[in-house]
Amino acid sequence: MPVHVLNQTKSLKAIHSVIRHRDTSHSLFVFQANRLIRLILEKCFELLPYRPYEVRTPIGELYEGQQFSKPLCAVSVVRAGESMEYALSSILAGFPIGKILIQRNKVTKLPHLYYAAFPEDIADRYVLLLEPMLATGGSAIMAVRELLERGVPEHNIIFANVLTSPEGLARLESTYPNLTIVTSSVEKRLNEEAFMVPGIGDFGDRYFGTT
Ligand code: PRP
Ligand code: MG
Repeated sequence: MPVHVLNQTKSLKAIHSVIRHRDTSHSLFVFQANRLIRLILEKCFELLPYRPYEVRTPIGELYEGQQFSKPLCAVSVVRAGESMEYALSSILAGFPIGKILIQRNKVTKLPHLYYAAFPEDIADRYVLLLEPMLATGGSAIMAVRELLERGVPEHNIIFANVLTSPEGLARLESTYPNLTIVTSSVEKRLNEEAFMVPGIGDFGDRYFGTT
């Protein structure tokens, strides 16, 4: 499975230092998380398929450019995945967004699928699957399975992620070897509560201010 981890530059670590800090305010968390998610999504865009596209510039010259060669859509894993829609809408206009509502059982940590709605022609689209947290990997595996059942080829899915655990990554990799994943950090491990270490806490709660 192609795994792309953003370069661990000081600039990236400075963003992580803000959003991981336990005392960061809600508004600052959202601001820096949006910036980080945008970097992650820009990396995803580098991995999409393009075809040559010539344009004529205002002085009448040709520019040998590129354009997407396949329609695109996003699918967010509700709730935390919805946090990535804002940054995506600042990069791209007029794209459909599918939703999958998956929640982990608070005790067993097992995911449960409640609802899914996708664009009619999703099988013909490249899919950016938006999910900031990959902990045990259960939710991500369930979300990808739904996409495959709707006819999306595994190699047409990019899993856009903020934090992943080594355990979740290994599970996702062995289940879907042709999936592409983009993340900003591979954490040290999962703890007994299925939280990533050092982690960020509950991303959904921190982004939406429900802590
Ligand atoms: C959290 C997180 C991921 C999932 C990751 O969701 O947002 O979706 O757990 O865990 P996993 O890899 O072990 O499945 P949660 O169900 O807590 O709901 P939320 O999205 O509303 O935060
Ligand atoms: Mg979730």
